Amino acid sequence: MAKINDNYLRLQGSYLFSTIGKKVREFSEQHPEADIIRLGIGDVTRPIAPTVIEALHKAVDEMGHEETFRGYAPDLGYDFLRNVISEKDFKARGCDIEPDEIFVSDGAKCDCANIQELFSTDNTIAVCDPVYPVYVDSNVMAGRTGLYDTASERYGKVIYMPCTKDNDFVPDIPKEVPDMIYLCYPNNPSGAVITKERLQEWVDYANAHDSVILYDAAYEAYISDPSIPHSIYECEGAKDCAIEFRSFSKTAGFTGLRLGFTVIPKDLTTGGEKLWPLWARRHGTKYNGAPYIVQRAGEAVYSEAGRHEIEEQIAYYMGNAKIIYEGLKGAGYEVYGGVNAPYIWLRTPGNMTSWEFFDQLLTQSGIVGTPGSGFGPSGEHYFRLTAFGSRENTTRAVERIVSR
Ligand SMILES: Cc1ncc(COP(=O)(O)O)c(C=O)c1O
Repeated sequence: MAKINDNYLRLQGSYLFSTIGKKVREFSEQHPEADIIRLGIGDVTRPIAPTVIEALHKAVDEMGHEETFRGYAPDLGYDFLRNVISEKDFKARGCDIEPDEIFVSDGAKCDCANIQELFSTDNTIAVCDPVYPVYVDSNVMAGRTGLYDTASERYGKVIYMPCTKDNDFVPDIPKEVPDMIYLCYPNNPSGAVITKERLQEWVDYANAHDSVILYDAAYEAYISDPSIPHSIYECEGAKDCAIEFRSFSKTAGFTGLRLGFTVIPKDLTTGGEKLWPLWARRHGTKYNGAPYIVQRAGEAVYSEAGRHEIEEQIAYYMGNAKIIYEGLKGAGYEVYGGVNAPYIWLRTPGNMTSWEFFDQLLTQSGIVGTPGSGFGPSGEHYFRLTAFGSRENTTRAVERIVSR
């Protein structure tokens, strides 16, 4: 008999977005005339930039000719992409990250879910609460956590680090020392950022305890404040303790194209073992590379024209963020995020639960957002709206919320 991996049975069934989907479907069936505006799921809506499309077309044509056809991509990514990432994302910011420390992949979700394979299941993980659910669930699947406790809404053997307005949504150092520390800034869901000083504290802490920081910088392109770090490698000593994840999804609208990368410094060790060769081995065994045409599209993101177009897209979304942030603040809501991140994190009015506010917003205003409690217990009484909608829908949504 084939036995299953029963760690999967510990996963909590009703995934946040399927519950939201079900509620919205039911409401639409009962109110077919309702004009619903979705500011819930964090998917982008702007089309791919023209320079990137041009690069895609060119690469597709290359595939049709014997002289330029490409088969399997190099396991760790094409040099043309890794070189430009090293130069423009890291060296230009004073971070000494070499091209061969960059592992190109089909997105940050897979990488931040798979990276835990390099580590013993005895390790203790620490996550922010609220949290992007992938970090926790991937560790549940691996058997690194205990059982789920419905009363506390937490898994055993996981250090949850509350992130609330009292600590500016940046976790305090926990009492128990974690082996693996997941941090994500700019943050999904809170839209918060971390200052260089506070990130440096985490780096120093990890180095002092031989812990590894798993730093998700999927939203770094949304940072507008020049004092906020884009990469953890802007901190001294981070190459000795941190892995960083990046994504083209929100930076350049690649949620459907799929491209990301992970940085593992060559000298990064834990317990005396280097992590770079382990991830290289894992990549070589379990992964066959992001498509050539998509890597060419990624390269175009860094061209002068591509960069310019992408900045315009980001400015468009951040214009939406400003409309939501200022509209709600003006209407008396307590609002966070939305300045260096495409997420607005608001406190529910009248101490409503996150789901009560979800229902009210859906039934009274026809607007779909995401209940903060779905990201962890410390997200209770918060609510997430995204800036990824169209300008028209964003403006209409804010007008409706403010007028009711
Ligand atoms: C924090 C965070 N990391 C990673 C991802 C996934 O990125 P990708 O589309 O590259 O898999 C998301 C997407 O929503 C995210 O919010």
